[in-house]
Amino acid sequence: MDRIAIIGGAELNGTIPISGAKNSALKLMAASLLTDQPVRLTNMPRLADTKFLGRLLQRLGAELIEQDGADGPETLLHTPEILGAIAPYDLVRQMRASFNVLGPLIARTGHAKVSLPGGCTIGARPVDLHLKALEALGATIDLHDGYVFAQAPRGLRGAEITFPFVSVGATEHAMLAAVLAEGVTVLHNSACEPEIGDLADCLNMMGAKVEGAGTSIVTITGVARLGGGSHAVIADRIETGTYALAAAMAGGEVRLTNTRSDFNQALSDKLIEAGVSVTPTADGMIIRRGPGRLKAVNIDTTPYPGFATDLQAQFMALMTTAEGESVIRETIFENRFMHVPELARLGADISVHGGEARVRGVERLNGAQVMATDLRASVSLVIAGLAAKGETVVNRVYHLDRGFERLEEKLGACGANVRRIKGSGSEED
Ligand code: EPZ
Repeated sequence: MDRIAIIGGAELNGTIPISGAKNSALKLMAASLLTDQPVRLTNMPRLADTKFLGRLLQRLGAELIEQDGADGPETLLHTPEILGAIAPYDLVRQMRASFNVLGPLIARTGHAKVSLPGGCTIGARPVDLHLKALEALGATIDLHDGYVFAQAPRGLRGAEITFPFVSVGATEHAMLAAVLAEGVTVLHNSACEPEIGDLADCLNMMGAKVEGAGTSIVTITGVARLGGGSHAVIADRIETGTYALAAAMAGGEVRLTNTRSDFNQALSDKLIEAGVSVTPTADGMIIRRGPGRLKAVNIDTTPYPGFATDLQAQFMALMTTAEGESVIRETIFENRFMHVPELARLGADISVHGGEARVRGVERLNGAQVMATDLRASVSLVIAGLAAKGETVVNRVYHLDRGFERLEEKLGACGANVRRIKGSGSEED
Protein backbone atom coordinates (compact mmCIF):
# COMPACT_ATOMS: atom_id res chain seq x y z
CA MET A 1 0.00 0.00 0.00
CA ASP A 2 1.15 3.52 -0.73
CA ARG A 3 2.45 5.91 1.91
CA ILE A 4 2.84 9.67 1.91
CA ALA A 5 6.03 11.15 3.33
CA ILE A 6 6.15 14.80 4.35
CA ILE A 7 9.18 16.73 5.49
CA GLY A 8 7.76 19.56 7.58
CA GLY A 9 8.83 23.15 7.80
CA ALA A 10 8.29 24.48 4.26
CA GLU A 11 5.89 27.40 3.85
CA LEU A 12 3.15 27.09 1.24
CA ASN A 13 3.09 29.77 -1.43
CA GLY A 14 1.15 29.55 -4.68
CA THR A 15 -2.20 28.61 -6.17
CA ILE A 16 -4.28 25.47 -5.66
CA PRO A 17 -7.16 24.79 -8.06
CA ILE A 18 -10.05 23.07 -6.29
CA SER A 19 -11.77 20.05 -7.86
CA GLY A 20 -15.47 19.24 -8.11
CA ALA A 21 -17.12 18.08 -4.89
CA LYS A 22 -16.88 14.35 -4.20
CA ASN A 23 -20.02 14.36 -2.08
CA SER A 24 -21.98 16.06 -4.83
CA ALA A 25 -20.55 14.06 -7.73
CA LEU A 26 -21.58 10.76 -6.11
CA LYS A 27 -25.25 11.79 -5.80
CA LEU A 28 -25.28 13.28 -9.31
CA MET A 29 -23.92 10.01 -10.69
CA ALA A 30 -26.74 8.15 -8.89
CA ALA A 31 -29.25 10.66 -10.36
CA SER A 32 -28.19 9.63 -13.88
CA LEU A 33 -29.98 6.30 -13.27
CA LEU A 34 -33.31 8.18 -13.28
CA THR A 35 -33.27 8.67 -17.05
CA ASP A 36 -32.67 6.63 -20.19
CA GLN A 37 -31.03 9.70 -21.73
CA PRO A 38 -27.30 10.61 -21.53
CA VAL A 39 -26.15 12.83 -18.65
CA ARG A 40 -22.84 14.70 -18.85
CA LEU A 41 -21.21 15.74 -15.57
CA THR A 42 -18.42 18.29 -15.92
CA ASN A 43 -15.90 19.47 -13.28
CA MET A 44 -15.79 15.84 -12.14
CA PRO A 45 -13.23 14.88 -9.52
CA ARG A 46 -11.22 11.76 -10.38
CA LEU A 47 -11.27 9.82 -7.13
CA ALA A 48 -11.34 6.26 -5.88
CA ASP A 49 -14.93 6.84 -4.65
CA THR A 50 -16.25 8.03 -8.01
CA LYS A 51 -14.56 4.98 -9.60
CA PHE A 52 -16.27 2.62 -7.10
CA LEU A 53 -19.65 4.11 -7.87
CA GLY A 54 -18.94 4.09 -11.60
CA ARG A 55 -18.34 0.33 -11.39
CA LEU A 56 -21.68 -0.18 -9.63
CA LEU A 57 -23.53 1.98 -12.16
CA GLN A 58 -21.99 -0.04 -15.00
CA ARG A 59 -23.17 -3.23 -13.30
CA LEU A 60 -26.67 -1.70 -13.24
CA GLY A 61 -26.57 -1.00 -16.98
CA ALA A 62 -24.84 2.36 -17.33
CA GLU A 63 -22.43 3.13 -20.13
CA LEU A 64 -19.76 5.33 -18.60
CA ILE A 65 -17.09 7.36 -20.35
CA GLU A 66 -14.51 9.48 -18.52
CA GLN A 67 -12.88 12.08 -20.72
CA ASP A 68 -11.26 15.50 -20.74
CA GLY A 69 -13.79 17.94 -22.12
CA ALA A 70 -13.47 21.64 -22.93
CA ASP A 71 -14.15 22.43 -19.24
CA GLY A 72 -11.83 19.79 -17.80
CA PRO A 73 -12.57 16.28 -16.59
CA GLU A 74 -16.07 15.05 -17.35
CA THR A 75 -18.05 11.83 -17.11
CA LEU A 76 -20.73 10.75 -19.54
CA LEU A 77 -23.35 8.43 -18.08
CA HIS A 78 -26.03 6.74 -20.11
CA THR A 79 -28.35 4.04 -18.78
CA PRO A 80 -30.76 3.10 -21.60
CA GLU A 81 -32.06 0.22 -19.48
CA ILE A 82 -31.61 -0.95 -15.89
CA LEU A 83 -30.11 -4.43 -15.83
CA GLY A 84 -31.14 -6.31 -12.69
CA ALA A 85 -31.66 -3.46 -10.17
CA ILE A 86 -29.32 -5.26 -7.77
CA ALA A 87 -26.50 -3.51 -5.88
CA PRO A 88 -24.39 -6.29 -4.33
CA TYR A 89 -22.61 -6.20 -0.97
CA ASP A 90 -19.09 -6.18 -2.43
CA LEU A 91 -19.79 -2.92 -4.28
CA VAL A 92 -21.87 -1.11 -1.59
CA ARG A 93 -19.48 -2.15 1.22
CA GLN A 94 -16.60 -0.28 -0.43
CA MET A 95 -18.45 3.00 -0.22
CA ARG A 96 -21.61 3.99 1.66
CA ALA A 97 -22.79 6.50 -0.94
CA SER A 98 -23.49 3.53 -3.26
CA PHE A 99 -26.59 2.98 -1.14
CA ASN A 100 -28.09 6.06 -2.81
CA VAL A 101 -28.81 4.04 -5.96
CA LEU A 102 -31.75 2.47 -4.10
CA GLY A 103 -34.13 5.44 -4.58
CA PRO A 104 -33.42 5.93 -8.29
CA LEU A 105 -33.75 2.18 -8.94
CA ILE A 106 -37.18 2.00 -7.26
CA ALA A 107 -38.29 5.21 -8.98
CA ARG A 108 -37.27 3.95 -12.40
CA THR A 109 -38.08 0.23 -12.24
CA GLY A 110 -40.47 -0.21 -9.29
CA HIS A 111 -38.16 -2.62 -7.47
CA ALA A 112 -34.60 -2.94 -6.19
CA LYS A 113 -32.31 -5.11 -4.10
CA VAL A 114 -29.51 -3.11 -2.51
CA SER A 115 -27.04 -4.22 0.15
CA LEU A 116 -27.18 -2.44 3.50
CA PRO A 117 -23.99 -0.37 3.79
CA GLY A 118 -23.05 -1.32 7.36
CA GLY A 119 -21.11 0.83 9.81
CA CYS A 120 -17.76 2.49 9.27
CA THR A 121 -14.89 3.83 11.34
CA ILE A 122 -16.58 7.16 12.09
CA GLY A 123 -19.74 5.61 13.56
CA ALA A 124 -22.65 3.21 13.14
CA ARG A 125 -24.21 5.37 10.41
CA PRO A 126 -27.64 3.75 10.09
CA VAL A 127 -29.90 4.29 7.06
CA ASP A 128 -33.24 4.23 8.91
CA LEU A 129 -34.20 7.75 7.76
CA HIS A 130 -33.52 6.81 4.13
CA LEU A 131 -35.77 3.75 4.41
CA LYS A 132 -38.56 5.60 6.25
CA ALA A 133 -38.58 8.27 3.53
CA LEU A 134 -38.83 5.63 0.80
CA GLU A 135 -41.66 3.91 2.71
CA ALA A 136 -43.48 7.23 3.07
CA LEU A 137 -43.23 7.54 -0.71
CA GLY A 138 -45.04 4.20 -1.02
CA ALA A 139 -42.23 1.68 -1.31
CA THR A 140 -42.55 -1.62 0.55
CA ILE A 141 -39.26 -2.35 2.27
CA ASP A 142 -38.09 -5.76 3.56
CA LEU A 143 -34.73 -6.30 5.19
CA HIS A 144 -33.13 -9.72 5.15
CA ASP A 145 -29.74 -11.32 4.50
CA GLY A 146 -28.10 -7.90 4.75
CA TYR A 147 -30.12 -6.55 1.84
CA VAL A 148 -32.93 -4.06 1.35
CA PHE A 149 -35.65 -5.51 -0.89
CA ALA A 150 -37.85 -2.66 -2.11
CA GLN A 151 -41.02 -2.83 -4.17
CA ALA A 152 -43.27 -0.14 -5.62
CA PRO A 153 -44.93 -1.90 -8.55
CA ARG A 154 -47.43 0.90 -9.13
CA GLY A 155 -44.81 3.62 -8.74
CA LEU A 156 -44.02 6.00 -5.88
CA ARG A 157 -46.41 8.73 -4.73
CA GLY A 158 -45.73 12.13 -3.17
CA ALA A 159 -45.78 12.49 0.62
CA GLU A 160 -45.12 14.90 3.50
CA ILE A 161 -41.92 13.75 5.20
CA THR A 162 -40.48 15.28 8.37
CA PHE A 163 -36.97 14.17 9.22
CA PRO A 164 -36.48 13.85 13.00
CA PHE A 165 -32.97 15.31 12.60
CA VAL A 166 -30.93 16.68 9.74
CA SER A 167 -29.43 14.08 7.42
CA VAL A 168 -27.64 14.97 4.20
CA GLY A 169 -27.93 11.48 2.74
CA ALA A 170 -31.60 10.98 3.65
CA THR A 171 -32.57 14.40 2.21
CA GLU A 172 -30.77 13.60 -1.04
CA HIS A 173 -32.15 10.08 -1.18
CA ALA A 174 -35.73 11.28 -0.72
CA MET A 175 -35.21 13.86 -3.48
CA LEU A 176 -33.79 11.21 -5.83
CA ALA A 177 -36.86 9.03 -5.30
CA ALA A 178 -39.54 11.74 -5.23
CA VAL A 179 -38.70 13.37 -8.57
CA LEU A 180 -40.49 10.55 -10.44
CA ALA A 181 -43.27 10.03 -7.83
CA GLU A 182 -46.85 10.92 -8.60
CA GLY A 183 -47.86 14.17 -6.90
CA VAL A 184 -46.09 16.53 -4.52
CA THR A 185 -43.52 15.63 -1.87
CA VAL A 186 -42.57 18.07 0.87
CA LEU A 187 -39.43 17.37 2.90
CA HIS A 188 -39.34 19.12 6.27
CA ASN A 189 -36.16 19.57 8.34
CA SER A 190 -34.07 18.94 5.24
CA ALA A 191 -30.30 19.32 5.23
CA CYS A 192 -29.14 22.62 3.65
CA GLU A 193 -25.64 21.62 2.47
CA PRO A 194 -24.59 23.16 -0.88
CA GLU A 195 -24.43 19.65 -2.37
CA ILE A 196 -28.22 19.43 -1.94
CA GLY A 197 -28.68 22.60 -3.98
CA ASP A 198 -26.37 21.12 -6.59
CA LEU A 199 -28.40 17.90 -6.76
CA ALA A 200 -31.61 19.95 -7.16
CA ASP A 201 -30.01 22.00 -9.96
CA CYS A 202 -28.96 18.86 -11.80
CA LEU A 203 -32.38 17.20 -11.35
CA ASN A 204 -34.13 20.37 -12.53
CA MET A 205 -31.82 20.47 -15.57
CA MET A 206 -33.07 16.91 -16.27
CA GLY A 207 -36.68 18.13 -16.13
CA ALA A 208 -37.53 17.64 -12.45
CA LYS A 209 -39.44 20.20 -10.38
CA VAL A 210 -37.51 20.72 -7.15
CA GLU A 211 -37.91 23.92 -5.15
CA GLY A 212 -36.44 25.14 -1.88
CA ALA A 213 -33.22 23.08 -1.94
CA GLY A 214 -30.72 24.74 0.39
CA THR A 215 -33.51 25.60 2.85
CA SER A 216 -35.08 23.29 5.42
CA ILE A 217 -38.22 22.74 3.30
CA VAL A 218 -37.76 21.12 -0.10
CA THR A 219 -40.80 20.68 -2.35
CA ILE A 220 -40.72 18.21 -5.22
CA THR A 221 -43.50 18.00 -7.79
CA GLY A 222 -43.18 14.61 -9.45
CA VAL A 223 -42.86 14.34 -13.24
CA ALA A 224 -43.52 11.33 -15.48
CA ARG A 225 -40.03 11.15 -16.92
CA LEU A 226 -36.65 12.86 -16.84
CA GLY A 227 -34.32 13.63 -19.71
CA GLY A 228 -30.57 14.05 -20.02
CA GLY A 229 -28.28 17.06 -20.32
CA SER A 230 -25.14 18.57 -18.91
CA HIS A 231 -24.34 19.79 -15.40
CA ALA A 232 -21.16 21.13 -13.75
CA VAL A 233 -20.38 19.67 -10.31
CA ILE A 234 -19.99 22.39 -7.65
CA ALA A 235 -16.64 23.06 -6.04
CA ASP A 236 -15.52 20.80 -3.21
CA ARG A 237 -15.91 22.92 -0.08
CA ILE A 238 -14.17 20.29 2.04
CA GLU A 239 -11.13 20.21 -0.25
CA THR A 240 -11.18 24.03 -0.19
CA GLY A 241 -11.29 24.09 3.61
CA THR A 242 -8.60 21.43 3.85
CA TYR A 243 -6.11 23.41 1.76
CA ALA A 244 -7.04 26.59 3.64
CA LEU A 245 -6.12 24.76 6.85
CA ALA A 246 -2.93 23.38 5.27
CA ALA A 247 -1.85 26.93 4.40
CA ALA A 248 -2.78 28.14 7.88
CA MET A 249 -0.66 25.34 9.39
CA ALA A 250 2.41 25.70 7.15
CA GLY A 251 2.37 29.50 6.85
CA GLY A 252 2.79 31.49 3.63
CA GLU A 253 0.16 32.65 1.16
CA VAL A 254 -2.06 30.36 -0.88
CA ARG A 255 -4.74 31.29 -3.39
CA LEU A 256 -7.54 28.74 -3.72
CA THR A 257 -9.27 28.95 -7.11
CA ASN A 258 -12.23 27.34 -8.92
CA THR A 259 -14.21 27.40 -5.68
CA ARG A 260 -16.46 29.58 -3.50
CA SER A 261 -15.58 31.30 -0.24
CA ASP A 262 -19.24 31.53 0.90
CA PHE A 263 -19.43 27.72 1.22
CA ASN A 264 -16.80 27.92 3.97
CA GLN A 265 -17.96 30.93 6.00
CA ALA A 266 -17.95 29.04 9.31
CA LEU A 267 -14.36 27.92 8.74
CA SER A 268 -13.25 31.39 7.60
CA ASP A 269 -14.69 32.93 10.79
CA LYS A 270 -12.72 30.47 12.94
CA LEU A 271 -9.51 30.95 10.94
CA ILE A 272 -9.75 34.72 11.35
CA GLU A 273 -10.41 34.30 15.08
CA ALA A 274 -7.25 32.17 15.30
CA GLY A 275 -5.16 34.86 13.57
CA VAL A 276 -5.15 33.75 9.93
CA SER A 277 -5.89 36.24 7.15
CA VAL A 278 -8.73 35.13 4.83
CA THR A 279 -9.55 37.21 1.75
CA PRO A 280 -12.51 36.14 -0.40
CA THR A 281 -11.93 36.47 -4.17
CA ALA A 282 -14.21 36.13 -7.20
CA ASP A 283 -13.30 32.45 -7.61
CA GLY A 284 -12.23 31.40 -4.13
CA MET A 285 -10.08 32.81 -1.37
CA ILE A 286 -6.55 33.76 -0.35
CA ILE A 287 -5.20 32.38 2.91
CA ARG A 288 -2.24 34.07 4.52
CA ARG A 289 -0.46 33.28 7.74
CA GLY A 290 2.43 35.31 9.04
CA PRO A 291 5.00 34.36 11.69
CA GLY A 292 4.04 33.74 15.31
CA ARG A 293 1.67 31.27 16.92
CA LEU A 294 -2.04 31.14 16.21
CA LYS A 295 -4.59 31.50 18.99
CA ALA A 296 -6.58 28.46 20.19
CA VAL A 297 -10.29 28.68 19.28
CA ASN A 298 -13.24 26.37 19.95
CA ILE A 299 -15.49 24.70 17.39
CA ASP A 300 -18.71 22.68 17.46
CA THR A 301 -19.48 20.67 14.33
CA THR A 302 -23.08 21.22 13.19
CA PRO A 303 -25.04 20.82 9.93
CA TYR A 304 -24.48 23.46 7.22
CA PRO A 305 -24.04 26.42 7.49
CA GLY A 306 -22.29 25.44 10.73
CA PHE A 307 -18.76 24.13 11.03
CA ALA A 308 -18.46 20.99 8.85
CA THR A 309 -17.71 17.67 10.55
CA ASP A 310 -15.63 16.86 7.44
CA LEU A 311 -13.19 19.63 8.48
CA GLN A 312 -13.03 18.78 12.17
CA ALA A 313 -9.91 16.56 12.00
CA GLN A 314 -8.04 19.09 9.86
CA PHE A 315 -8.97 21.94 12.22
CA MET A 316 -7.79 19.87 15.17
CA ALA A 317 -4.42 19.43 13.44
CA LEU A 318 -4.16 23.22 13.18
CA MET A 319 -5.01 23.65 16.85
CA THR A 320 -2.26 21.24 17.99
CA THR A 321 0.30 24.07 17.82
CA ALA A 322 -1.96 27.05 18.63
CA GLU A 323 -1.45 28.98 21.84
CA GLY A 324 -3.87 27.93 24.57
CA GLU A 325 -6.58 25.25 24.76
CA SER A 326 -9.10 24.54 22.03
CA VAL A 327 -12.33 22.65 22.77
CA ILE A 328 -13.60 20.71 19.76
CA ARG A 329 -17.09 19.21 19.97
CA GLU A 330 -18.16 16.65 17.39
CA THR A 331 -21.96 16.56 17.29
CA ILE A 332 -22.61 14.78 13.96
CA PHE A 333 -20.80 11.43 14.30
CA GLU A 334 -20.25 9.53 17.53
CA ASN A 335 -16.78 8.19 16.75
CA ARG A 336 -14.94 10.77 14.74
CA PHE A 337 -11.80 11.23 16.82
CA MET A 338 -9.75 8.37 15.34
CA HIS A 339 -7.05 10.87 14.36
CA VAL A 340 -6.41 11.84 18.01
CA PRO A 341 -3.99 9.00 18.88
CA GLU A 342 -2.20 9.52 15.57
CA LEU A 343 -1.80 13.27 16.17
CA ALA A 344 -0.52 12.35 19.64
CA ARG A 345 2.24 10.30 17.97
CA LEU A 346 3.43 13.59 16.47
CA GLY A 347 3.52 15.16 19.93
CA ALA A 348 0.03 16.70 20.15
CA ASP A 349 -1.53 17.04 23.60
CA ILE A 350 -5.21 16.05 23.25
CA SER A 351 -7.69 14.45 25.64
CA VAL A 352 -11.09 13.13 24.59
CA HIS A 353 -14.23 12.77 26.72
CA GLY A 354 -17.22 11.53 24.77
CA GLY A 355 -17.85 13.88 21.87
CA GLU A 356 -15.47 16.55 23.14
CA ALA A 357 -11.73 16.87 22.52
CA ARG A 358 -9.49 19.31 24.39
CA VAL A 359 -6.41 20.29 22.45
CA ARG A 360 -3.66 22.00 24.44
CA GLY A 361 -1.38 23.63 21.91
CA VAL A 362 2.29 22.61 21.96
CA GLU A 363 5.20 24.67 20.60
CA ARG A 364 6.06 22.14 17.93
CA LEU A 365 5.13 18.73 16.50
CA ASN A 366 7.76 16.16 15.61
CA GLY A 367 7.55 13.86 12.56
CA ALA A 368 6.67 10.18 13.10
CA GLN A 369 5.03 7.19 11.41
CA VAL A 370 1.24 7.52 11.58
CA MET A 371 -1.76 5.61 10.29
CA ALA A 372 -4.63 6.98 8.23
CA THR A 373 -7.97 5.74 9.61
CA ASP A 374 -10.52 7.49 7.43
CA LEU A 375 -10.53 10.01 4.66
CA ARG A 376 -10.57 13.28 6.60
CA ALA A 377 -8.44 11.90 9.44
CA SER A 378 -5.75 10.99 6.88
CA VAL A 379 -5.49 14.47 5.52
CA SER A 380 -5.35 15.94 9.05
CA LEU A 381 -2.13 13.94 9.49
CA VAL A 382 -0.72 15.40 6.28
CA ILE A 383 -1.57 18.90 7.55
CA ALA A 384 0.12 18.19 10.88
CA GLY A 385 3.15 16.79 9.00
CA LEU A 386 3.53 20.06 7.05
CA ALA A 387 4.52 21.83 10.27
CA ALA A 388 6.17 18.95 12.15
CA LYS A 389 9.94 18.86 12.55
CA GLY A 390 11.49 16.14 10.39
CA GLU A 391 9.67 13.45 8.44
CA THR A 392 6.09 12.27 8.91
CA VAL A 393 5.03 9.14 7.06
CA VAL A 394 1.29 8.55 6.66
CA ASN A 395 0.46 4.89 6.13
CA ARG A 396 -2.69 3.50 4.49
CA VAL A 397 -3.21 6.45 2.21
CA TYR A 398 -5.86 4.63 0.20
CA HIS A 399 -8.28 6.46 2.50
CA LEU A 400 -6.89 9.73 1.23
CA ASP A 401 -7.23 8.71 -2.41
CA ARG A 402 -10.96 8.22 -1.88
CA GLY A 403 -11.50 11.95 -1.59
CA PHE A 404 -8.45 14.02 -2.52
CA GLU A 405 -7.34 14.30 -6.11
CA ARG A 406 -3.58 14.72 -6.79
CA LEU A 407 -2.91 15.87 -3.22
CA GLU A 408 0.91 15.58 -3.42
CA GLU A 409 0.92 17.49 -6.71
CA LYS A 410 -1.32 20.29 -5.42
CA LEU A 411 0.67 20.76 -2.19
CA GLY A 412 4.01 20.21 -3.95
CA ALA A 413 3.26 23.02 -6.42
CA CYS A 414 3.10 25.40 -3.44
CA GLY A 415 6.46 24.30 -2.06
CA ALA A 416 5.50 21.50 0.32
CA ASN A 417 7.95 18.63 0.57
CA VAL A 418 5.45 15.79 0.06
CA ARG A 419 6.03 12.57 -1.84
CA ARG A 420 4.20 9.32 -2.38
CA ILE A 421 6.04 6.10 -1.63
CA LYS A 422 4.58 3.36 -3.79
CA GLY A 423 3.93 0.10 -1.96
CA SER A 424 3.02 -3.39 -3.11
CA GLY A 425 -0.72 -4.10 -3.34
CA SER A 426 -0.76 -6.78 -0.65
CA GLU A 427 1.50 -5.20 1.94
CA GLU A 428 -0.29 -4.75 5.27
CA ASP A 429 0.78 -1.46 6.71
C1 EPZ B 1 -22.68 12.94 4.32
O1 EPZ B 1 -22.83 11.69 4.97
C2 EPZ B 1 -21.28 12.98 3.77
N1 EPZ B 1 -21.08 11.87 2.85
C3 EPZ B 1 -20.28 12.89 4.92
O2 EPZ B 1 -18.98 13.02 4.39
C4 EPZ B 1 -20.54 14.03 5.88
O3 EPZ B 1 -19.68 13.89 7.00
C5 EPZ B 1 -22.00 14.00 6.36
O4 EPZ B 1 -22.89 14.03 5.21
C6 EPZ B 1 -22.37 15.18 7.25
O5 EPZ B 1 -22.10 16.37 6.59
C7 EPZ B 1 -21.52 11.94 1.60
O6 EPZ B 1 -22.14 12.91 1.18
C8 EPZ B 1 -21.20 10.80 0.71
P1 EPZ B 1 -25.84 12.32 7.45
P2 EPZ B 1 -24.25 11.17 5.38
O7 EPZ B 1 -26.92 11.43 6.96
O8 EPZ B 1 -25.25 11.61 4.39
C9 EPZ B 1 -27.16 9.84 11.35
C10 EPZ B 1 -16.74 12.39 3.98
O9 EPZ B 1 -15.71 12.33 4.69
N2 EPZ B 1 -28.11 9.11 10.50
O10 EPZ B 1 -26.05 13.79 7.37
O11 EPZ B 1 -24.12 9.71 5.65
C11 EPZ B 1 -25.71 9.55 10.99
O12 EPZ B 1 -25.26 8.34 11.56
C12 EPZ B 1 -18.07 11.89 4.51
O13 EPZ B 1 -16.75 12.83 2.82
C13 EPZ B 1 -29.01 8.22 11.08
O14 EPZ B 1 -28.99 7.98 12.29
O15 EPZ B 1 -24.46 11.94 6.75
C14 EPZ B 1 -25.02 10.79 11.52
O16 EPZ B 1 -24.80 10.64 12.88
C15 EPZ B 1 -17.96 11.25 5.84
N3 EPZ B 1 -29.90 7.59 10.25
C16 EPZ B 1 -26.05 11.89 11.28
O17 EPZ B 1 -27.29 11.22 11.11
C17 EPZ B 1 -29.95 7.81 8.91
O18 EPZ B 1 -30.79 7.19 8.23
C18 EPZ B 1 -25.83 12.76 10.05
O19 EPZ B 1 -25.51 11.92 8.96
C19 EPZ B 1 -29.06 8.73 8.35
C20 EPZ B 1 -28.15 9.37 9.15
